[in-house]
Amino acid sequence: MSNSHGADPAFWRAGAISATVVMLVILGLLSVNSLTVITAGGSHVPPYTAINQQILYRYDPVKGYDMPVIGGEDLLFGRRYDPEQARALVTRGKLVIQTKACIDCHTFFGIGAYFAPDLTKSWLDPAWDQLWMPMTGSKTREEAMVKFLIHPDRYPTWSRQMPDLHLTQQDAEGVVAYLKWMSAINTNGFPANFGHAPQP
Ligand code: HEC
Repeated sequence: MSNSHGADPAFWRAGAISATVVMLVILGLLSVNSLTVITAGGSHVPPYTAINQQILYRYDPVKGYDMPVIGGEDLLFGRRYDPEQARALVTRGKLVIQTKACIDCHTFFGIGAYFAPDLTKSWLDPAWDQLWMPMTGSKTREEAMVKFLIHPDRYPTWSRQMPDLHLTQQDAEGVVAYLKWMSAINTNGFPANFGHAPQP
């Protein structure tokens, strides 16, 4: 046999090492790119101050699904949060959601359970205006959400009921801020067929 490359282990080793190095570089570039896309203020995720704005959900005929659109000013709890206050409130909501294990029953971004409604776009759920605002005697959506979250057992609308998880007023306000901010995230149309209120 002649001394061809195919029989030489050094040839294969060099190939494996260079392929691994090239793929590691690509993995690094993709990770950096994903981070810029998924951080608040990135191309798919709004800044936390989106909680000061109206969140609309409009059908995009080119993409073939609904896209969140950030509209004009629509203050949450009648307050205008600066970037640091908005970040702190949304973060509090995230920590409440994590510590109370809401994903045992609900789904966020496709992660969690389907015992209870998907919460990814819950802020846009017409049930807040149509059912919970009159039921809780609230003038705003966020007020109705806070009242429901503090006493979900008092305001049932469904065949399954949410248990009282002993959220404080501040916990509930954080959760509402988190849900409003989350609804403005471009999730490529997830969850599919979400029935939202008619959009102006
Ligand atoms: C044991 C299961 C369970 C857990 C845990 C749970 N929920 Fe629920 N949740 C439900 C059920 C069931 C409903 C539907 C209740 C109804 O409509 O009367 C619901 C409804 C909701 C809604 C209204 C959704 C909509 O748009 O219709 C929100 C918001 C919500 N839950 C938030 C939370 C948060 C935040 C947590 C964690 C702090 C949580 N839930 C934990 C069962 C659960």
